[in-house]
Amino acid sequence: MRSYAKSIELYERTRKSLAGGVSSNVRYAATPVPLFFERGEGARLYDVDGNVHIDYVLGNGPAILGHAPKPVIDAVAATLSLGQVYAAQHPRETVLAERLCRLLPGIEVVRFASSGTEAVLMAFRLARAFTGRTKILKFEGHYHGWSDQAYISARPPLNEAGPANAPVPVAGSPGMPPSVLDDTVVAGWNDLDLLAQAFERHKGEIAGVIMEPVMVNGGPTEPRPGYLEGARDLCRANGALFICDEVITGFRAGLRGAQGRYGVTADLTIYAKAVAAGFPLAMVGGRRDVMDTLLDKGVMHGGTYNGNVQSMAAALAALDVLEADDGAVYRDLEARGTRLMQGLDAICRKHKVPARVQGLPAIFQVFFTDGPAPSNYRDAVACDRDRALAFHCALQEEGIRTNQQAKWFLSTAHDDAIVDETLAAADRAMAAIA
Ligand SMILES: Cc1ncc(COP(=O)(O)O)c(C=O)c1O
Repeated sequence: MRSYAKSIELYERTRKSLAGGVSSNVRYAATPVPLFFERGEGARLYDVDGNVHIDYVLGNGPAILGHAPKPVIDAVAATLSLGQVYAAQHPRETVLAERLCRLLPGIEVVRFASSGTEAVLMAFRLARAFTGRTKILKFEGHYHGWSDQAYISARPPLNEAGPANAPVPVAGSPGMPPSVLDDTVVAGWNDLDLLAQAFERHKGEIAGVIMEPVMVNGGPTEPRPGYLEGARDLCRANGALFICDEVITGFRAGLRGAQGRYGVTADLTIYAKAVAAGFPLAMVGGRRDVMDTLLDKGVMHGGTYNGNVQSMAAALAALDVLEADDGAVYRDLEARGTRLMQGLDAICRKHKVPARVQGLPAIFQVFFTDGPAPSNYRDAVACDRDRALAFHCALQEEGIRTNQQAKWFLSTAHDDAIVDETLAAADRAMAAIA
């Protein structure tokens, strides 16, 4: 048995001064306590008890190049003596904005922010200002940050969520004003009829439709063929903006995100996480006429840390790696992730554990179910979560770190040898829970 004695001791101490012992509620979910790490390098994390973990959490997505990637760290280090925040412009912002506009589908103009949560709020404000409407339509099981306006029906208990064909918005936290629910329409994802019906029920009211183009937070699930195109067309027909939240899928579903992968372009897109390989950077970008409401209509967007020197440097250095040879690293990522998914699938079958390994090669989950492949949030939550937790715990004992839903993020640092090591460990972990 691995020992976590030092983590447990530090957690008890930390709880006395840091609320709940963590800086984000998501981090409560760890076994036996939120673990304390000393350092990360490549695909591995090293905890305070001396345990080594092959990390498939990767900061919940950002560390696309693994931990402490040298080109990024060197580029950031080279800026440390130049200052951090100027409350003014600097040339790295120009260069990064130009590169992103050149690279990403549908991005004519960008604005930088520091977290996905705030970038989502900006997209909502732009959509409302541009259309003159108030309501935002979002999908059950899709997470767009923890703000009052967005943390609605992200993981709703089904006994509160209403019927599948017309879900009711469910506030995700105490302390959220009930009025935010009036401005939010919730629909089931991956079903164009449900979206069309929601538009019908709220004719002329919906400013924007936001979605994770691949549902990741509710359980990694690809859009059905034609779904993204259909959703975009329904938005157009109803005068609403189509907003893609690529905070996770950006620079992970491929060099050009999910929109590049599936060939569908949104009116507005939010990127964060992998865009700066782990440094705090988010952005909203999209159609020039929509982004221009910042100037034309005086839409307010601020943020002290926006465009800070180190995040710009990190993103530029990350892009150098990610863009090289038109995204060659993604071809490797795709191949290794596919091998990992297929290997895990074979392990489940070998141990006669009914499961489906689903998602994209760089972000997937082992769903424990003997039913059909999940296609939306309600399917995903019907899978056996106790078994997923048991698998997560057994993996941790074998030195493999996933999140508690047994969700896996992959980085370019997970090479073939690490994939082999992981599959051998996963085989033992599955035997332990079978
Ligand atoms: C799809 C999606 N959107 C928005 C966010 C919020 O981003 P942040 O945690 O940077 O505020 C997240 C965070 O996990 C996310 O997964």
